[in-house]
Amino acid sequence: MDSLDISLKGEESSYQIYFGDLPKLILDKKVLIVTNPKIAGLHLQTLLGRVQAREVYCHIIPDGEVYKNFKSVESILETAFNHHLDRKSLMIAFGGGVIGDMVGFAAGIFMRGIDFIQIPTTLLAQVDSSVGGKTGINNAFGKNLVGLFYQPKAVYINSQFLRTLPQRELSAGFAEIIKMAVCFDREFFKVLENLNIGDECALLAVIQKAVSIKAQVVREDEKEQGIRAALNYGHTFGHSIELQSGYGKYLHGEAVGMGMVMANTLALALGLINQVEFDAIKALLEKFGIPTSYAIKNVESFYESFFLDKKSLNSRIKFVLPQGIGGVCFKDDIPKALVLDILSEFA
Ligand SMILES: NC(=O)c1ccc[n+]([C@@H]2O[C@H](COP(=O)([O-])OP(=O)(O)OC[C@H]3O[C@@H](n4cnc5c(N)ncnc54)[C@H](O)[C@@H]3O)[C@@H](O)[C@H]2O)c1
Ligand SMILES: [Zn+2]
Repeated sequence: MDSLDISLKGEESSYQIYFGDLPKLILDKKVLIVTNPKIAGLHLQTLLGRVQAREVYCHIIPDGEVYKNFKSVESILETAFNHHLDRKSLMIAFGGGVIGDMVGFAAGIFMRGIDFIQIPTTLLAQVDSSVGGKTGINNAFGKNLVGLFYQPKAVYINSQFLRTLPQRELSAGFAEIIKMAVCFDREFFKVLENLNIGDECALLAVIQKAVSIKAQVVREDEKEQGIRAALNYGHTFGHSIELQSGYGKYLHGEAVGMGMVMANTLALALGLINQVEFDAIKALLEKFGIPTSYAIKNVESFYESFFLDKKSLNSRIKFVLPQGIGGVCFKDDIPKALVLDILSEFA
């Protein structure tokens, strides 16, 4: 089984990400598996067959981003207390990014922090949430506003779980993979251009590559002071699309895909990429079934919504733009008139 060492600064936060069939997990402790009804129905028996522990409990949370909240975290903690989990116990997050973020947070605050393992079952969670240690929940003030940086003890990535993932969810995960290729790795971009989507072995290799790129970026910049912000390519525009279209219409990855096309239009105008590169990125997004066009209803209010993003520091928008394929740069001095011009192309 292949693995990748995620060593961050400070020994305590290093862990392994394993790729391939789920091994037998032999754990001499109490274990609480947290998942949702859909994933439980599809895959919980498989997981239970692999976990050998002193006691194993399951906690099921309703499916959906709307349940990524304090109430669900409280219910996880209550189950943990009811079954007398202690500081040596372990939580397993078994699901997509919603479960992963919430369980990481619950594990991080239960008795001031117990171990947790992530077994991500969506492509997005495998390539994106498995590295970086961001955990948390949403509240009335916004998404992911409450949480911790809290690293798992291990992550197990098995592409077989993706067989049951709906096509749209798979495409949304690919948007984040394409994002990493465009910003950091031209060769990887070519690999994606030639990828046979049905080839599970090739898919696992692609996941592994995407994870290693993200790991490298996070290792350099754990707390998002510099290069890690490159992972927001497509996200400034994408967050505005999510906001303006009403959360739920598009999956996050779909909005990011459309956001990347908007960012690329700006990059093209600034001479950072050429038309051939612009077309190649768009074609790659389309190959994976990611939408690439979005009609902006009101250009001015779309622009204003950039300032609601928590990544917009001191009222300056920091655009993350591709520089060729495989390179990335930041621009915080783009005149409003130019940005409005670009947005008008989508109106
Ligand atoms: N921590 C991080 O670094 C990080 C990074 C990116 C995203 N996120 C968070 O992740 C969340 C989005 O994650 P997501 O896209 O995985 O969404 P999700 O967890 O809601 O999963 C998407 C849907 O797929 C279903 N599903 C999961 N695995 C399945 C499987 N194997 N087969 C069939 N259906 C399956 C889920 O039940 C759900 O309905 C957001 O809350 C986002 O904030 C966190
Ligand atoms: Zn994203």
